[in-house]
Amino acid sequence: MRKRGILITGAAGEIGDSLIRSLSDQGETQIVTLDLRPLPPENAKLSTHIQGDLMDQALLARLVSEYEIATIYHLAALLSTRAEFSPEMAHQVNVEGTLHLLRLASEQSQWRGEPVLFLFPSSIAAYGMPNLETKAQYPRVREWEWNYPTTMYGCNKLYCEMLGIYYSQYFRQLAADRPVTLDFRALRFPGLISAFTVPSGGTSDYGPEMLHYAAKGEAYAAFVREDTCIPFMAMPDAVTALLKLAAVPARALSRRVYNVTSFSLTAAEFGEMVQRFFPQAQITFKPDLKRQGIVDSWPAGLNDNDARRDWGWKPTYDLERSFSEYLVPNISQRYQPA
Ligand code: SER
Repeated sequence: MRKRGILITGAAGEIGDSLIRSLSDQGETQIVTLDLRPLPPENAKLSTHIQGDLMDQALLARLVSEYEIATIYHLAALLSTRAEFSPEMAHQVNVEGTLHLLRLASEQSQWRGEPVLFLFPSSIAAYGMPNLETKAQYPRVREWEWNYPTTMYGCNKLYCEMLGIYYSQYFRQLAADRPVTLDFRALRFPGLISAFTVPSGGTSDYGPEMLHYAAKGEAYAAFVREDTCIPFMAMPDAVTALLKLAAVPARALSRRVYNVTSFSLTAAEFGEMVQRFFPQAQITFKPDLKRQGIVDSWPAGLNDNDARRDWGWKPTYDLERSFSEYLVPNISQRYQPA
């Protein structure tokens, strides 16, 4: 008998770190995690971890021979800055890796006779504003607007959204015996900020980095201009959004890809918030023109009306609560001398 389980890929990453704990709090007993890296010891206790490569087809085949996977949280990806340094590798991991899992989910759906739920974190990087004037003119973009990404990561995310929709709705559309297919659902996240992990390889990283450096008592030079504006969200809200979207009945959904957001602010305002809680923080702005170009192409805000209407999305942590109740207390504790 195969054991029924939830699969999380990229489980050692920032979202995975929080998601494992939330799923385990919800009483999910069989969490199977996959990542190239080991899990931190606290999370390793909560799941069955497979240290391996998503691109390893034999490994995936072994995985489904042992587990009946009902839900997949496919978090593994190379983020936007990192992907620009090795775009083809990013394509391999971000697109081919996703394709492997969509195939797996599709086969599992047929085998089970009911759809496997496939949750996919997409991103503001799926958007591409052509210039700052347009960015100012469209401060809260809708899901279907400005889908012209300028990064490999953004292209990968946008295309994988489409692949997910294809596998859910059109896969083998001409077959007489059209099989049961998977149920793909995606969230376009803003920049995420975790108190427990430090981001690596993203372009929204200047926000969380300001905070983590300030808590460590180290000076930080942000790689963007002070007027740079993008949306952000505290990690607990990102996990809540994923779990909420996973729980909603399919009939309530009017789309498969939803914007979700919490607060938008400029890098200067972000710095002021950090300074308010860490008065000793030394924050300067030293724009890196290339990374700046990427953040400038991302929208200043997301319109998440559809998520609010269809499945009651609402962030718990606005800017004030994110800092005062989640980020500052937990980050301060993290860097306290033992
Ligand atoms: N946080 C991501 C990045 O910066 C965007 O999804 O790449």
